[in-house]
Amino acid sequence: MKMEELIYSNKILQNERYKQIVEHIEELESDRIFCHHDMSHFLDVARIAVLMVAEEDLPIKRDIIYSAALLHDIGRAEQYINGKAHEAAGAPIAEKILNECGFCPGDITQIIEAVRQHGNADIRDKADLTGLIYRADKASRRCYMCKAADRCHKAPEKRVQEIRY
Ligand SMILES: [Fe+2]
Ligand SMILES: [Fe+2]
Repeated sequence: MKMEELIYSNKILQNERYKQIVEHIEELESDRIFCHHDMSHFLDVARIAVLMVAEEDLPIKRDIIYSAALLHDIGRAEQYINGKAHEAAGAPIAEKILNECGFCPGDITQIIEAVRQHGNADIRDKADLTGLIYRADKASRRCYMCKAADRCHKAPEKRVQEIRY
């Protein structure tokens, strides 16, 4: 099977605004004991989402999945600085980056909706990009080997206790 090229996701990786914000999040999380929001997390989410799409036979393009995964936590820096929820803070930042990268309006709408909704448990079972990114994000965490488990706010039943992806 020929792999679909990640043309637009790679444009995000080259975007100056994106690079600066990801670096800023890294600085702000340098002393953080809980999960980080860095390139390994974004790629974990993207790759798990691709596996879920194959398992569930969903018609969602890989380039869109990777783009949403790269951007879903882009509001984290704002959350650390001014306390605004990162899902809401991230949507307008993602929109700017997607416009700068030349995404089409339909894809922009889908991706910013996934950014905005990725913490909303009500959409978790949706068969669209929002539900997919929500589920892949949650499944990406490695609670089974977390050093901060005793201080984490995540409810025990929501913790990932075994490898599935
Ligand atoms: Fe998040
Ligand atoms: Fe995340």
